[in-house]
Amino acid sequence: MSVWKKHELFEKNSFYLLIGILVMVAIGGLVEIAPLFYLKSTIEKTEGMRPYTPLELAGRNIYIREGCYLCHSQMIRPMRDEMERYGHFSLAAESMYDHPFQWGSKRTGPDLARVGGKYSDDWHVEHLKDPRSVVPASIMPGYPFLAETRLNARDIQSELTVNTIVGVPYTDEQIENASADLMGQAKPDTDAAYAFEERWPDAKIRNFDGNPTEVTEMDALVAYLQVLGTMVDFSIYDDKANAR
Ligand code: HEC
Repeated sequence: MSVWKKHELFEKNSFYLLIGILVMVAIGGLVEIAPLFYLKSTIEKTEGMRPYTPLELAGRNIYIREGCYLCHSQMIRPMRDEMERYGHFSLAAESMYDHPFQWGSKRTGPDLARVGGKYSDDWHVEHLKDPRSVVPASIMPGYPFLAETRLNARDIQSELTVNTIVGVPYTDEQIENASADLMGQAKPDTDAAYAFEERWPDAKIRNFDGNPTEVTEMDALVAYLQVLGTMVDFSIYDDKANAR
């Protein structure tokens, strides 16, 4: 019997054919997956990326709680129309500390991956309270209660700890002082703010919601929106690319 005749076994018996297919797919899968186990990281290191501060992380939780991701993506694709509208395309490293990431798949509103620094804090506060007061044709719902709801900081320390389990490099000091830092970032010129600055030299300290008496959910959400897309300085990368 020639070698080719043996192939009849597979052609005439669907069970053997099925086993054969499974073996082939398994080999293909292994070839793709096995190398990943030997890589330290699949994400290229990028200068400037840091974990979210406690206040920003609390803001991110509100973003998720309110379902902002149902109308907003945070993922700029490397296509000319997107880059002209939103800025540099998103890098994998930019969501390396996002658990879960907020890429999204629906754009009822614009992409928010680079919204940080695009508007003032006041604009965000007005817009979130009543979107139509600043963008008359807006169909975004208002979230006025955020400005009246004191930020619940009870779980922030555990929140940071959980993030370290999935690989976010919070230091013990940052975890220990999470509640104090959460307040400090929103209260400029206080002792809490100075202590915060020591632990988070790259973060912005501002009274984000314009209300100095308490730290609200609005403070947290605006702090989060204002940091989006601002950690990586793309001029460094573009200069390097141009110098080549
Ligand atoms: C029902 C869909 C919808 C939801 C939910 C929604 N938005 Fe929007 N958003 C829009 C639309 C539409 C616009 C564009 C018009 C405007 O600026 O108001 C927008 C605009 C924005 C902008 C301005 C973006 C820019 O570049 O001009 C920000 C910031 C924003 N939304 C934040 C949020 C946040 C934070 C939440 C959750 C608390 C949220 N949105 C929930 C639809 C939505």
